[in-house]
Amino acid sequence: MRADPLEYLSAELASLRDQGLYRRLRVLDGEQRAHTSVDHRSVVNLSSNNYLGLTTHPRLRERAAEALAALGVGTGSVRPIAGTMAIHMELERRLAAFKNTEAAVVFQSGFAANAGTVASVLTKDDAIVSDELNHASIIDGARLSRATIKVFPHRDVTAARRILEALPRGQRTLLITDGVFSMDGDLGALPGLCDLADEFGAIMMVDDAHASGVFGRDGRGTVDHFGLHGRVDIQVGTLSKAIGALGGYVAGSRALIEFLYHRARPFLFSTSHPPSVAATCIAAIDVLESEPQWIARLWENTRFFKGGLQTLGFDTGVSESPITPVIVGEAALAMKLSDRLFAEGVFAQGIGFPTVARGRARVRTIVAATHTQDELQFALDCFGRVGRELGILP
Ligand SMILES: Cc1ncc(COP(=O)(O)O)c(C=O)c1O
Repeated sequence: MRADPLEYLSAELASLRDQGLYRRLRVLDGEQRAHTSVDHRSVVNLSSNNYLGLTTHPRLRERAAEALAALGVGTGSVRPIAGTMAIHMELERRLAAFKNTEAAVVFQSGFAANAGTVASVLTKDDAIVSDELNHASIIDGARLSRATIKVFPHRDVTAARRILEALPRGQRTLLITDGVFSMDGDLGALPGLCDLADEFGAIMMVDDAHASGVFGRDGRGTVDHFGLHGRVDIQVGTLSKAIGALGGYVAGSRALIEFLYHRARPFLFSTSHPPSVAATCIAAIDVLESEPQWIARLWENTRFFKGGLQTLGFDTGVSESPITPVIVGEAALAMKLSDRLFAEGVFAQGIGFPTVARGRARVRTIVAATHTQDELQFALDCFGRVGRELGILP
């Protein structure tokens, strides 16, 4: 019999089990909601990126169903061949107007948008100066580009400046940061980095996956939040988190978007969104522009829950967003906290190395606009009880 050449993977998994890091996939029994059923248990859901509750918004459902009936279930092609429908173009026009840029292009995911853009805009002769906590999709895109990658300590504009000063004069350089960091919930050092980009003539790029629909007027993102319109050359956003559906986009100049139409590999070589997804995303922009109550409630809930965790005495790090980590140190303890919370009716994922630094393992919480205060209070009570039980709180 043929020996299994993948046997080493089982050893890797056994090692994860030994370290208490093995995770079974949690399965939602029904819809993605703020209070839902996961693995047949009714839970307050603090794990999803469904910031505004749009995954189940009636207007989005209706528009998706209409598009499904009118346009079918799929596109049958990549965008540059036969997979561009009028509804994709409409979505791109709407996104560009929303982001106040000349143009926008939609990718299949935020991951594809980041990786595809960084890998195509830069070449091996160029440099990328990147925050150490930037998302994996930026790191992968940077590697694919074969540019020289220089990493600066998290949010450290002075260190970024030193790197820029040391690069050869005239070398094309991309300066890149997440808008909101997904594990700590803090904001990228955008204003300082934009000043550096101006001074050194660098291309400025922000990944606003967790800021889209959350920060700025009507959720226009961190560029709007910081008043930096016209100073960020490449804005990436996602349609998979606050927008409630699936996809990513790049907003910027017409030339940038035309270039990506010709060179971004996920755009060129992977089939486009079903029309129902594009319709859903257009409906989501309508909701952002006409139902400001969702973002207002998201922030009310954020203040309530973050304040509650801090009053209990947890280390919540440096979060400035609806993402609030509860930092406990060792990964095994974070996983135990997550499991005990789940048993009590709170779904909040434990996250350890390599996703976060060793010794900084955490349970990450994300509130949504659609949580009630009773649900959040219930979650706080559980955190307090389990935190004391595990010796995290005195
Ligand atoms: C900071 C950041 N950028 C990009 C992405 C990728 O977005 P998407 O889920 O749409 O692929 C994520 C999502 O996990 C993220 O957290």
